[in-house]
Amino acid sequence: MATKQIGVLVGSLRKESFNRKMAEALTRMQPGSLNLEIVAIGQLPMYNQDLDENPPKEWVEFRERIRGFDGILFVTPEYNRSVPAVLKNAIDVGSRPYGKSVWNGKPAAVMSVSPSALGGFGSNHHLRQSLVFLNMPVMQQPEAYVGGADKIFGERGEISVDKTREFLQGFMKGYASWVERFPEAGTR
Ligand code: FNR
Repeated sequence: MATKQIGVLVGSLRKESFNRKMAEALTRMQPGSLNLEIVAIGQLPMYNQDLDENPPKEWVEFRERIRGFDGILFVTPEYNRSVPAVLKNAIDVGSRPYGKSVWNGKPAAVMSVSPSALGGFGSNHHLRQSLVFLNMPVMQQPEAYVGGADKIFGERGEISVDKTREFLQGFMKGYASWVERFPEAGTR
C-alpha cells in the first residue's frame, strides 16, 4: 500500500497551542500508511477577491502544496463557538478562484481540541459545514472533540493519558482507512 501524503492544518498560531501539540503528537503516531505534514497558514495574506488576478506568492505556494496532498486533517480550537479566522482564511484562499478549489474531493478529518469540556464541538461542526460546500468527503466516525486539553500533554508534548492516546490511535486508524477510499484525491 503506497504511503498517502496528508496535509495537517492547525487553527491556532499560539506558540504553546494545544492544537499544535496535538497535531505534532498525531504526526508521531501516524499509522504506517500515512505521512502527516503540518502546513503553515499564518503567513497567508487575508483573502481579498481583488487579489485573485495577481495572487500573492504565499497564496500560490499554499494552493500548490495543498493540491498535492491525498487528504487533509484539520486540528482546530474553537473561537467564540466557531472556526478561528486564520483557519477560515486558509480555507477561503484555497477555495478560489471559483472552479479551481484545491480542496475538491480531498478526504478530510476534523479534530477539535479545547481546554473546555465541550471539546470545541461548535468549531468542529461549523468547519464541517464549509467542507460540505467544498466537496471534501469528511470522515464521520470516530468524531473527535478533545476536551480537557490542558491536562493531556506531558512535558515533551507527549499524550500522557492512556485513554486519550488509545482514542487518538483509533481515530488515525479510521482516517487511514477513510483515505484509502479516495485513491484519486492527490492527482486533482
Ligand atoms: C477562546 N476559547 C474558547 N474555547 C472554547 O471551548 N469555546 C470557545 O468558544 C472559545 N472561544 C475563544 C475565543 C478566543 C478569541 C480565544 C482566544 C479563546 C479558549 C480556547 O479554547 C483556548 O484559548 C485554547 O487554548 C485555544 O487553542 P490553542 O491555541 O491552545 O490551540
